[in-house]
Amino acid sequence: MAKVIFEKVVKRYPSGDRDTVRELSLTIDDGEFLVLVGPSGCGKSTILRMLAGLINVTAGKIFIDGKDITRLHPKDRDISMVFQNYALFPHLNVYDNIAFGLKMRGAPKKEIDDRVREASALLGIVPLLHKKPKELSGGQSQRVAVGRAIVRRPKVFLFDEPLSNLDAKMRTQMRAEISRLHRRLKATAIYVTHDQCEAMTMADRMVVLHDGVIGQCGTPHEIYSTPRNTFVATFIGSPPMNLFAAQAVREGAASGLKINNFVLPLPHLAAERLETGRKYTFGIRPEHIYLADRVPPGVNSSMPLACEVELAESMGNDVVLHCNSGGLAFQASLKHDFPVKSGDKINVVFALDKSHVFDEKGERVA
Ligand SMILES: Nc1ncnc2c1ncn2[C@@H]1O[C@H](COP(=O)(O)OP(=O)(O)OP(=O)(O)O)[C@@H](O)[C@H]1O
Ligand SMILES: [Mg+2]
Repeated sequence: MAKVIFEKVVKRYPSGDRDTVRELSLTIDDGEFLVLVGPSGCGKSTILRMLAGLINVTAGKIFIDGKDITRLHPKDRDISMVFQNYALFPHLNVYDNIAFGLKMRGAPKKEIDDRVREASALLGIVPLLHKKPKELSGGQSQRVAVGRAIVRRPKVFLFDEPLSNLDAKMRTQMRAEISRLHRRLKATAIYVTHDQCEAMTMADRMVVLHDGVIGQCGTPHEIYSTPRNTFVATFIGSPPMNLFAAQAVREGAASGLKINNFVLPLPHLAAERLETGRKYTFGIRPEHIYLADRVPPGVNSSMPLACEVELAESMGNDVVLHCNSGGLAFQASLKHDFPVKSGDKINVVFALDKSHVFDEKGERVA
């Protein structure tokens, strides 16, 4: 059982002129798989290292199961970490690499053997136990690194981009394996990645980190469907959400957003939150744009917008259209069941119920 609490945790590196992590407050529930995602340099590894005790905390506190561990030695924290480079000992074979932590703790030989064999069976690496790290593929090394972490049966698992050295297919496979393993072990896990696809598929909850601050914390679905600000809106989702500069206007009883040279009426609830004359940012995801004559039933769509397809990129299942409507550029992602090609002139509509509106500071309004 392990609940992890960060309480106003700050990190400033001695050489730094600003805080790398700024007053981070976050609770990770017992057994939860929390994913920390964000661009390079936003402070993800720093947060893991503070929790593991590899670097100290500048201010604030960290608790595991109610116990303040902020100043505790790493070996007393009951945490295992899997790193991006696996950090296997090159001179030890797989068995001894996995056993190493237990040996260091003076565990009895029989117990070490049982645990190493159990973990190896779980990870499907029994045939590799006598091999040296240099004889392993990337995916095999990755499993050994995970094995080394799980034999210790820690309270908390930390993963720092453990899959980024693998090719795309192996990543997808290992990501599913780690998720399955987590369901079996039911341990609290914090997993760092800058791959949004990994974050979306693996997380119970995810934290989108931006410049050492939480941009948003929620389930993958919450973050995808109601991003709290324009940073989160464009970081999660591929191709990213289209954002347009807009101004709230009123025409008679109806209000809407003026974008470029057209006015987009908004659903009543959204329109109510806008202040006429103010500037906003309108957001629509590429997958919420449809061809005007192929709108699925039940979609509350906007008036058709004429545009030119500057580029059509086929993704197999989908086709991503780079469109331009009188200087307004956006991307639309359509199902690949009709022919649209570069240079075509098409009419598209936006699914208004799926639209997003942000204020001038980039915070969500509707
Ligand atoms: N030991 C250090 N001394 C000074 N600054 C550091 C140190 N380690 C990291 N930083 C800085 O802190 C910031 C956050 O680094 P961190 O490694 O936590 O980022 P990250 O989110 O893990 O990035 P990546 O996705 O590239 O691994 C960066 O700007 C980095 O340059
Ligand atoms: Mg990192």
